[in-house]
Amino acid sequence: MANLAALRPWLCLLTAMAAGAATAEALGMNWGTQATHKLPPKVVVQMLRDNGVKKVKLFDADQDTLSALAGTGIEVMVAIPNVMLDRITDYDTAKEWVRRNVSRYNFDGGATIKYVAVGNEPFLQSYNGTFDKVTFPALQNIQNALNEAGLGDSIKATVPLNADVYMSPESNPVPSAGRWRPDIADLMTQMVQFLANNSAPFTVNIYPFISLYLNDNFPVDFAFFDGEGVTPVLDNGVSYTNVFDANFDTLVAALKASGHGDLPVVVGEVGWPTDGDKHATNANAQRFYGGLLRRLAANAGTPVRPNQYIEVYLFGLLDEDLKSVAPGNFERHWGILRYDGQPKYPMDLTGQGQQNAMMAPAQGVEYLLRKWCVINTNAQGMDKLADNINYACTFADCTALGYGSSCGGMDSNGNASYAFNAFFQMKNQQEESCDFQGLAVSTQTDPSTNTCNFTIQIATTSAAGHRRPAVSAAVWLCLAHLLILLLLLH
Ligand SMILES: *[C@@H]1O[C@H](CO)[C@@H](O)[C@H](O)[C@H]1NC(C)=O
Ligand SMILES: *[C@@H]1O[C@H](CO)[C@@H](O)[C@H](O)[C@H]1NC(C)=O
Ligand SMILES: *[C@@H]1O[C@H](CO)[C@@H](O)[C@H](O)[C@H]1NC(C)=O
Ligand SMILES: *[C@@H]1O[C@H](CO)[C@@H](O)[C@H](O)[C@H]1NC(C)=O
Ligand SMILES: *[C@@H]1O[C@H](CO)[C@@H](O)[C@H](O)[C@H]1NC(C)=O
Repeated sequence: MANLAALRPWLCLLTAMAAGAATAEALGMNWGTQATHKLPPKVVVQMLRDNGVKKVKLFDADQDTLSALAGTGIEVMVAIPNVMLDRITDYDTAKEWVRRNVSRYNFDGGATIKYVAVGNEPFLQSYNGTFDKVTFPALQNIQNALNEAGLGDSIKATVPLNADVYMSPESNPVPSAGRWRPDIADLMTQMVQFLANNSAPFTVNIYPFISLYLNDNFPVDFAFFDGEGVTPVLDNGVSYTNVFDANFDTLVAALKASGHGDLPVVVGEVGWPTDGDKHATNANAQRFYGGLLRRLAANAGTPVRPNQYIEVYLFGLLDEDLKSVAPGNFERHWGILRYDGQPKYPMDLTGQGQQNAMMAPAQGVEYLLRKWCVINTNAQGMDKLADNINYACTFADCTALGYGSSCGGMDSNGNASYAFNAFFQMKNQQEESCDFQGLAVSTQTDPSTNTCNFTIQIATTSAAGHRRPAVSAAVWLCLAHLLILLLLLH
């Protein structure tokens, strides 16, 4: 009995360690922060740990975020925004950037930076070549600065690129015919050479959802992984049943044609949004991730790179209500979790396909009061309604109101209430933000419907940001047991 009791603390410690290790090895998360109300970094980091997530990709090198990640062992891809690339073409500026945003975290208990993303999809066709001349010099400068700082072996610079740098599988007959987009072909060839020289990976963002969104004739089932109802695409005897594989292998063909068919490929972004378009639903997101995560967990690879681990970052962790909606209303709904860190649908991050597994939600999130702003149906001057809705939606997020979205199909009063509330919440429920020329009134009755959520924003200035990360009671108990054991052994 005595022996058994002595073993207990070790057992509980092992259990505590195993709890964080359940997620598929490859899985990373994109953590974007273009939101009016951001969750405190410590709350997000604790949630990542609760879910066993071991890798994150950021869109900047924010100090609070990196401090929250310090000491957790979570691997980080920090980033340089496109607008900064021009300045990084100066080598001294690049060295300063590396010193201030990378080297300073390189200590025991600091942040585990693995990659620096130089720009974000800088060769996107809609940028009209704005970043074509600055991206490669910036990439070279950052990697050279990392090398000079003695960090180049463990930290690699890479450029996350949209799959539009190569001919899309839709416009391309077969993946094996993959080649770079003609306007940037030489640039891509040189960049790939440089990445290979530095043992750095190629980073690509792959979006089956966008294929579907942009093309009404796209075979819907080909966007998913279950092979249901799919007519396979045949390529020299290789059969493709989903656009992710076809897209990835198109890239591998382009790399091969540049003489680097073996270059490691990181999938920087892949995911499915849940609102703002008829295909952007919880059910589709669940189907997409269910298939993707199963394949990743099984290290299935793709037809030309079979049976291998692919490093993947899901896009994205949280909804972001300040993202540009130029690509479409779905842009603000990419989160696996809602804006407040609560899961939207079942998802088994381990890839074991458990039907009802939910991600662990963010803990200790504090909300504003249970108060909404809605249309005052008794008000005079309804002729001013449209202008006021427009005003609210210019500043607040009304993307759920569109056709086929969760709040689409409401009457004009419903539209007005939704818009007024979105504005009111964005303004932290300030009394004067629920007026709209007398057309609005605040209420404590939740106006939400079955499908349409009139959200309450999170309280961003609350104490939530200053709380210690919640170490569970079990872990404290474990440590106490261990301490006693050590004392006894002495
Ligand atoms: C990174 O370093 C530069 C200095 O080169 C600084 O201007 C910038 O604010 C730092 N932080 C981020 C988040 O980029
Ligand atoms: C790119 O060009 C198109 C067409 O000329 C224009 O509408 C768009 O605003 C341009 N985009 C950028 C980022 O310059
Ligand atoms: C890659 O390395 C080779 C051999 O050291 C060198 O000749 C070549 O210029 C390098 N290419 C790039 C793009 O850095
Ligand atoms: C409600 O708003 C949406 C999005 O702006 C619009 O498409 C729709 O026509 C509006 N409905 C009414 C009845 O005004
Ligand atoms: C609506 O929002 C509340 C919190 O504001 C949340 O608890 C609930 O799950 C949401 N419902 C849906 C359908 O998203």
